[in-house]
Amino acid sequence: MIERPRRLRTSAAMRRLVRETRPRPSQLVLPAFVGERDGDIAAMPGVRRHTVRQIGEVARAARDAGLGGIRLFGVPDDADKDPEGSQAWAAEGITQRAIAACREAVGDDLVIMSDVCLDEFTTHGHCGVLGEDGAVLNDETCQLYAAQAVAQAIAGAHVVAPSGMMDGQIAIIRERLDEAGYAHVGILAYSAKYASAFYGPFREAVGSSLRGDRRTYQQDPANRREGLREALLDLAEGADIVMVKPASHYLDVLADVAAASQVPVAAYQVSGEYSMIEAAAARGWIDRRAAIEESVTSIVRAGADVVLTYWAMEVAKWLN
Ligand code: PBG
Repeated sequence: MIERPRRLRTSAAMRRLVRETRPRPSQLVLPAFVGERDGDIAAMPGVRRHTVRQIGEVARAARDAGLGGIRLFGVPDDADKDPEGSQAWAAEGITQRAIAACREAVGDDLVIMSDVCLDEFTTHGHCGVLGEDGAVLNDETCQLYAAQAVAQAIAGAHVVAPSGMMDGQIAIIRERLDEAGYAHVGILAYSAKYASAFYGPFREAVGSSLRGDRRTYQQDPANRREGLREALLDLAEGADIVMVKPASHYLDVLADVAAASQVPVAAYQVSGEYSMIEAAAARGWIDRRAAIEESVTSIVRAGADVVLTYWAMEVAKWLN
């Protein structure tokens, strides 16, 4: 026998030497929720909703841990929701205040990203505005996303991240940011975003009003080619970073996109991926740290340059 792959596994030092995938803190992004009041999120033990006053401290801690960025989700009070989601682009909307607080706290030392989508702000919980028949209107929604993106750029976002899966959303956001004088603000496109059951805990985190589902705009989990198609369209429209979401159950799509993309590729380890490991670990059914490290390593191995994960702070601490 000449080939003995086990030679390269004989000691921890040997394995460390030949390890292919080495996640770094600088490629991790912390998703963070900001509301009018702080609080725990029952379905995501260990994740909190912060106030605008607190979020600057979170951003500073992320910077100090060497993270790549912070990803902000504004959570308005129910009383501030309406059918159009107008708080999404109001100058004093919760997300805009959160962005400004982070920018004030860390300046340009941490990449501040914000969610461009209406679902947290609409009374019906859909990611866009509805027509008379209740269908989500594509082009009208894109106009509102553009207004929201500009409001976030004015507040100080370095990168806006459209997650609503409307056709053509990247092109119109790019155009309107440029017109408004924000050509330097980047776009992280949620390119391949699947209609996933693994967003369940997130919907609690943002107090979602949604009834029904998002299957007319988010992708069918059964479709692989379509993920690549969506990413290529976003690249053609000017995306600076393309993303696949969720991460763990879509590593094939992630690998496809990574192979084809000439821009950095991100993956979002979503709330359900987080909560499943936390729940199993809490029962002693799984080794928590090993499972988290393995999951993040697998996402990087599949081709992610950037990983959005609720464990970003803890993983960075372990890596440091
Ligand atoms: C929509 C949005 C969702 C997530 C991020 N942005 C939820 C959805 O599409 O219903 C999910 C994130 C997660 O589950 O961690 N703006």
